Amino acid sequence: MNLIKLIHALPKTELHLHIEGSLEPAMMWNLASKHGVSLPYDSIADIEAAYQFEDLQSFLDLYYQGADVLRDEDDFYQLMMAYLTRCHDDNVVHAEIMFDPQTHTSRGVGFDVFMPGFERAIQDAKQKWGISVYLIMSFLRHLSEKDAIDTLNQARAYYPMIKAVGLDSSELGNPPEKFVKVFAAARALGFKCVAHAGEEGPPEYIWQALDLLHVDRIDHGVRCVEDASLMQRLKDEGMPLTVCPQSNIKLCVFDHMKDHNILSLLDDDLCVTVNADDPSYFGGYLNDNYRALMTHLSMNESQLVKLVKNSFVASFLPTDEKNHWL
Ligand code: ADE
Ligand code: ZN
Repeated sequence: MNLIKLIHALPKTELHLHIEGSLEPAMMWNLASKHGVSLPYDSIADIEAAYQFEDLQSFLDLYYQGADVLRDEDDFYQLMMAYLTRCHDDNVVHAEIMFDPQTHTSRGVGFDVFMPGFERAIQDAKQKWGISVYLIMSFLRHLSEKDAIDTLNQARAYYPMIKAVGLDSSELGNPPEKFVKVFAAARALGFKCVAHAGEEGPPEYIWQALDLLHVDRIDHGVRCVEDASLMQRLKDEGMPLTVCPQSNIKLCVFDHMKDHNILSLLDDDLCVTVNADDPSYFGGYLNDNYRALMTHLSMNESQLVKLVKNSFVASFLPTDEKNHWL
């Protein structure tokens, strides 16, 4: 089988996907018109044309603005269902999906609006296609730790739907050490923990995520190459990195895909995985990201198989379910 066909045919997991980052321009346009929200764009093509970023913050500004069209339960259902339909198309059998409650609660849209919408779509996708989903509730790191603690408390009625907590948004200037208490509280409640670290931030932020937040996975982590002892630690612990190649190019973490370090990390035996991050903003879903590694980094079949296996190893699935796919 050629590599393109194999990328499609292999059952995969996706572990780093922001549901708000899967809001396609056409859906944004339709929901804006449904709710009478005025957008600073004249057409769907205009929205697409605006997706040129120079760094993480320039993207986040548009991402939060776009999320403002999500207002009622059905909007969140449509958003989740559209992403899970793409999962089905890409042969993604399990997804661990981040959502940003504070992006919605700060606009008066509560857990009782978005969680039932997500749940209905997750159940429909499970029934139609057998896809399994875990939700990761991510705290916005540009806000205070108190705001994150309030968010953890507000989520109480929905804890059974949530597998893990995460940390995202503007990394520089908002180190993991700012969130020690809320992560300790989340761990005590039995949640798994992940954090974005080493996307734009220095290796020190990855150390902090490991030593202070006690995370189970690092989201991105590509700047670990700047610190040899950190690389060794990640390798020794088999600590997964959920790497997002097309995101890193769109946000100028690397100049070009041919400069991306994912395959060299893989060849150094780090547990790296491939993910889309915010597919509608970065121009590609999961299989597009795998194909980009083939086109620009000459990924071979054994590297592909290893990356896909890592995606199951790094997941929060129970061991017997992982073993079913491995
Ligand atoms: N929120 C959505 N996508 C993100 C990313 N790539 N980094 C940090 N926060 C995010
Ligand atoms: Zn992310």
